[in-house]
Amino acid sequence: MTAEIIDGKAFAARVRGQVAEQVARLKADHGITPGLAVVLVGEDPASQVYVRSKGKQTVEVGMNSFEHKLPADVSRYDLFALIDRLNADPAVNGILVQFPVPDHLSEAEIVARIDPAKDVDGLHIENAGLLASGQKAMVSCTPLGCLMMLRDRLGDLSGLDAVVIGRSNLVGKPMAQLLLRDSCTVTVAHSRTRDLPGVVRRADIVVAAVGRPRFVPGDWIKPGATVIDVGINRLPHEEDGGKGKLVGDVDFDSAVRVAGAITPVPGGVGPMTIACLLANTLTATCRVNGLDEPEGLTA
Ligand SMILES: NC(=O)c1ccc[n+]([C@@H]2O[C@H](COP(=O)([O-])OP(=O)(O)OC[C@H]3O[C@@H](n4cnc5c(N)ncnc54)[C@H](OP(=O)(O)O)[C@@H]3O)[C@@H](O)[C@H]2O)c1
Repeated sequence: MTAEIIDGKAFAARVRGQVAEQVARLKADHGITPGLAVVLVGEDPASQVYVRSKGKQTVEVGMNSFEHKLPADVSRYDLFALIDRLNADPAVNGILVQFPVPDHLSEAEIVARIDPAKDVDGLHIENAGLLASGQKAMVSCTPLGCLMMLRDRLGDLSGLDAVVIGRSNLVGKPMAQLLLRDSCTVTVAHSRTRDLPGVVRRADIVVAAVGRPRFVPGDWIKPGATVIDVGINRLPHEEDGGKGKLVGDVDFDSAVRVAGAITPVPGGVGPMTIACLLANTLTATCRVNGLDEPEGLTA
């Protein structure tokens, strides 16, 4: 058996297409253009690439993109003053501060400063609370993308056994909440979990968000299970003939022979994250204007 390979690139393009369609309708029917503000502190090259890519895709779906670049030594006071201005600006519906930030700034304090209604990364404690209590929240983009792929592949998730490996606030915890909301029986595994192979073997759905290259081998996977690999790990150059190849948290070559469906790395979950950021910005815009939630783009 060979698993179906879930094409995250194509899926993300479909999501962006849906966002673009609904943005065009918002403009035509209500004269509203959603706006996403991205704040970059310092000159980290990887962050610069992400921010550029986010800005480009924001404009491509018809939204306004506002980029704010601040020097690496910006004071907490000046950064917060910018966030306060963006919170108050009606043209800005989503605010994202690109992490990591320099050490003198606290990511937790930054997230707390953002208006929860504009927290399109879904990291604000109020959004975590809303999600946990089953209410309308802004949901972290990566788990939202994983949920969309799971629903697309499996339809109703109700009653399925799901294992999320990893309990970070960014991925593992919101992923578990989303699966619980869709009536899965959810196990959250982490570094202290006993008999992880046994736990994973029971699962119809496996979401791996560990940050360890090829950590989950194929023989942990229940035949036919759906495997979502969130991990993005760059192999040391000597392990792959000098290219510094990207691999996931799942050993793709062995898992693909057992699973029913699997996301590859790269080209699986990764492309969905920015697409979901755009979806969240659209959702935030609809909510602040008292309009219906965008179709098929929310949890
Ligand atoms: N595709 C995307 O867009 C996207 C977005 C975000 C993250 N990622 C990738 O996803 C991965 C996870 O990210 P993250 O932010 O969630 O990472 P993280 O904050 O480092 O969390 C990793 C989790 O894995 C658990 N873990 C570590 N070693 C383990 C082991 N031996 N057995 C079981 N669990 C173990 C940790 O458990 P403890 O809590 O017990 O330490 C922790 O909960 C990374 O590769 C990251 O690059 C991808």
